[in-house]
Amino acid sequence: MPLKQAATAVRENAHAPYSGFKVGAAIRAISGTIYSGCNVENVAYPEGTCAEAGAIAAMVAAGDTEIDEVYVIADAPMPVSPCGGCRQKLAEFGAGHVPVIMGTLDGQEQVMTLGELLPGAFNTDHMQGR
Ligand code: THU
Repeated sequence: MPLKQAATAVRENAHAPYSGFKVGAAIRAISGTIYSGCNVENVAYPEGTCAEAGAIAAMVAAGDTEIDEVYVIADAPMPVSPCGGCRQKLAEFGAGHVPVIMGTLDGQEQVMTLGELLPGAFNTDHMQGR
């Protein structure tokens, strides 16, 4: 299933009773396999997780660790870009050139690379010598 369809389909399963804002994310790993995730909110609000985090967890659980492409979709007036925390999570498994396609249910799309979304990302270079 292509990336957009996977993100759109998994979005339907989002658990978002508090925000009412369902998000779907799909990741194609370099292996070619697609992993998807949706936001899962919690009555204890900070315990909720983003769609991107769910897709990353599914990917890593299946044994893939290299992201090739990301698609994020929501029912929003403009493409929704990943939150700061998710940008860092994606950067753990994706190079700077990896495209992140941000889509809306009404067909808008915006593409940015991970490097554009998180310039100056904290990475292992900062921890050299440890
Ligand atoms: N959310 C995501 O899942 N991914 C994003 O990229 C933006 C925000 C979720 C978190 C929360 O459940 C809801 O959207 C509103 O912030």
